[in-house]
Amino acid sequence: MSLPNGFLDELRARVSLSHVVGRKVVWDMRKSNQAKGDFWAPCPFHQEKSASFHVDDRKGFYYCFGCHAKGDALTFLRESENLSFMEAVELLAREAGMPMPARDPAAAQKADRRSQLAEVMEQAVKFYRMQLSTSGGAGARAYLAKRMLPEASQARFEIGYAPDGRHALWQHLRGKGIAPDLIVDAGLAARPEGGGEPYDRFRGRIIFPIRDARGRAISLGGRAMDPNARAKYLNGPETDLFDKGRSLYNHGPARDAAARGKPLIVAEGYMDVIALVEGGFEAAVAPLGTAVTEEQLRMMWRIHPEPVIALDGDAAGLRAAMRVIDLALPLLEAGQGLRFAVLEGGKDPDEIIRGPGPAVLQKALNAALPMVALLWRRETEGKVFDSPERKAALDKTLRAALMRIKDASIRAHYGEEVKRLRWELFGTRRPAPGTPGRRFGAPPPPMMPLPTTRGSLFALDDGAGERLREAVILATLILHPGLIARFEGGIERLDLHGPGHARLRDLILRHADAPDLREKIAADAGADLDALFALSHVQIAPPVRNAGDREIAETCLAEELAKLEAARGVQREVREAAEDLEGLADEGVTWRLGQAAQARNRAGRIAKDDGNDLGEDRAALSAHLQSLIDAEIWVKKRG
Ligand code: UTP
Ligand code: MN
Repeated sequence: MSLPNGFLDELRARVSLSHVVGRKVVWDMRKSNQAKGDFWAPCPFHQEKSASFHVDDRKGFYYCFGCHAKGDALTFLRESENLSFMEAVELLAREAGMPMPARDPAAAQKADRRSQLAEVMEQAVKFYRMQLSTSGGAGARAYLAKRMLPEASQARFEIGYAPDGRHALWQHLRGKGIAPDLIVDAGLAARPEGGGEPYDRFRGRIIFPIRDARGRAISLGGRAMDPNARAKYLNGPETDLFDKGRSLYNHGPARDAAARGKPLIVAEGYMDVIALVEGGFEAAVAPLGTAVTEEQLRMMWRIHPEPVIALDGDAAGLRAAMRVIDLALPLLEAGQGLRFAVLEGGKDPDEIIRGPGPAVLQKALNAALPMVALLWRRETEGKVFDSPERKAALDKTLRAALMRIKDASIRAHYGEEVKRLRWELFGTRRPAPGTPGRRFGAPPPPMMPLPTTRGSLFALDDGAGERLREAVILATLILHPGLIARFEGGIERLDLHGPGHARLRDLILRHADAPDLREKIAADAGADLDALFALSHVQIAPPVRNAGDREIAETCLAEELAKLEAARGVQREVREAAEDLEGLADEGVTWRLGQAAQARNRAGRIAKDDGNDLGEDRAALSAHLQSLIDAEIWVKKRG
């Protein structure tokens, strides 16, 4: 929909940005100068204690000197409330008392259709609600009594009863002149496959109306009273009004309660939400018969920065929690997390509140685990890590999980926590009596205060020597094409870093059988070829100087290839070790791997000087690295 010229300017002029922002922040009154329209507050978009968020009320602009968030009132609403542009405009216009311009006809029609469907839904809610108090609803009332659902709650949640007839609602709505299509499109009735009059979707069920955040009736849930019914719960189908993945049961009231400071609790079903609200946990929501979706998570975060997922302590409950974790990891942001309250004994919130009571539930909420703890539990529970291989496998899965966190700062904090948990699990030293147990202690500081970065770790060897080695190999092959076949596998596998080297290698392999190999290569990569043979290191290499001696060439090739592969192998090992531990290890490990790399370089130099075989060095270095890893060098052994 397009807005008339000047509408937005008028809107911005009418609303005060400090007023809009003021609902989300606490102004730093000492720093602010109200009279000048100058406001400062801790930034609502990033975690901070100081007030680096500035609002210029006169210009209607904000800017954060910390995270550089900036914009006007509309931007602020979009970002802080997760609204679309139009939603933000509508909200501001309402506040400013400006009527929204007319919508375009197609959009208006669709909106009209939806409000018609909502109206039909509202009629259905009323009808089912009324049915509960009729004589036909006696069974339903008995059922609700058995489930200890007081009338006050029934009224609050507008619980109703769908009689066990095929056309009870249908006839009622048709009698009010409502068009058949609307009833069907609202999901309240279904057309029989063989044709004929549509029949009521909900029959012989307790009805739970579902409303969106604004309170509009969008669908219904129905619970069978008969324990043998085919489906215990039946939810309305997806319609123009009802998008299951974007709806939450009890959304509006939960949002209001959360705004009053209640924790947001996410339960599994209707009865849980109702019991929670009754038990004083008013900010309770549930997905609607589907697994929690990404969109629902976002909706929850709009209500509360840290929703608590209440879950059964049984296997199915944990599995559901893990799905939520997988969904949430990439979405984590500062001030946007999850907690998990594990309910023991396989009981759901409804059963706990009506059984042991709200205090027991409160206890479970107090003990709710942060997501990282549950993630840890998933990867470690019931497993034994008694070998380096198993520990490495654990590191790998944890690292994969951490890598899914997009927010760098959160990822780092997860890494810290995982590191601490890992230290608890693998640490061997028992706490001395009287000293605090390691369980609650922080991990030890890194042995060396040397935060060597990965970049500089690999910069220790600039690779010049290896590039020369590559050059000698390539030149030898070009001068002795007869040897290509013998070394083909090794040549193919090589990671070539020198200028044009990879290209030369490809040409060598492609034209291996050509009698005029050198000319063929010159045709495609003449400059690279000339550069290669111009290297003095190449010119003095024995197989080049003795171009006619096949034996020298063969020995040299075998040796150079082995050395290069060895060097690259160690590099790979260091890299993989560093990557595997990234986010898990402290700087100590990086430092030590750096030491290992330096040791490798030293050994390389010695090998060259002594004419030693680098193969042995490789084995020694690998063993050295492995010993560092086995010794859990990231866990400082105290004492
Ligand atoms: P549960 O099977 O855990 O039931 O389903 P519950 O919430 O404890 O319900 P009561 O206490 O037996 O009455 C949890 C949620 O899963 C959906 C419903 O939304 C239900 O509230 N569900 C369950 C269905 O959609 N269909 C079903 O057949 C069962
Ligand atoms: Mn239940």
